[in-house]
Amino acid sequence: MSSLSGKQGPRYRHLAGEAEPYETIAVEKLTPIIGAEISGVDLARLVDDGARSNRQMDEIHRALAENLVIFFRDQQITPAQHLAFGRKFGELHVHPAAPNEGDPALMRIYADKDSPRANGEGWHSDVSCDLEPPMGSILHIKQCPPHGGDTLFANMYAAYEALSDRMKAYLDGLTALHDGEQVYRGLYANYGEADRPSYPRAEHPILRTHPVTGRKALFVNRGFTRFIVGIPRDESDAVLGYLYQHAENPLFQCRFRWSENAIAFWDNRCTQHRAMWDYWPHTRSGTRVTVKGERPV
Ligand code: SIN
Repeated sequence: MSSLSGKQGPRYRHLAGEAEPYETIAVEKLTPIIGAEISGVDLARLVDDGARSNRQMDEIHRALAENLVIFFRDQQITPAQHLAFGRKFGELHVHPAAPNEGDPALMRIYADKDSPRANGEGWHSDVSCDLEPPMGSILHIKQCPPHGGDTLFANMYAAYEALSDRMKAYLDGLTALHDGEQVYRGLYANYGEADRPSYPRAEHPILRTHPVTGRKALFVNRGFTRFIVGIPRDESDAVLGYLYQHAENPLFQCRFRWSENAIAFWDNRCTQHRAMWDYWPHTRSGTRVTVKGERPV
């Protein structure tokens, strides 16, 4: 990892901006560059209102764009309200491998003492192997372990912006192959989920431009990215190794401590996340609704 000492001011100062005040929600930042806890919202009431364009929805959109991942606590929502909240942001994505909770778009997130693994243990952006990877994911945790089970999130605009100009120029125009095969085959066998004949794979630009903010973000992750297209494999391994380490710099991160009925909503186009499975033999469970995205450019 490149040394940050001495360079920290000039390289990172621009990442913390002053925001306009909000009128219908309260937004408490977790760190200057990623994550904010939102209060003053009852999501169950908001979705049942059906008022797609109301002021509070607009401000939630804005809070997501400004903070990349937003958190809500003490939300007593039903599965139908969870799905309805997701639909306010777009069509819902169906996971290519994971089990669901009665609706194909309601993904099951579950680990207990018998689980061989937990969802999302390594750094990744959800289903980046899809041709059109999901725009965002909305996770509702209903059962928490007594300690642990936090989720870490990292800002990929910040990762891009902190690259050297030479590295930015080198990566510009390069694409990488993202493949679900090694991730998903056999992953959910313990839940009785049969393997599919094949899993998604797709080539995406390493640097993508966010369709809403217009900002550039680094778009490779340890979970799904296999190699950079069109360069020798040893060069690809070395460059990807550097980029993964760089993206995982704690300066780009926040860490969320879950409570029962908390919700996290993250933007997969400009973040990565990693779930900590440090709570065995306890149980952690919830559901995730994922919103469809667009082809990265
Ligand atoms: C995931 O969606 O990758 C799982 C995240 C979590 O369980 O915290």
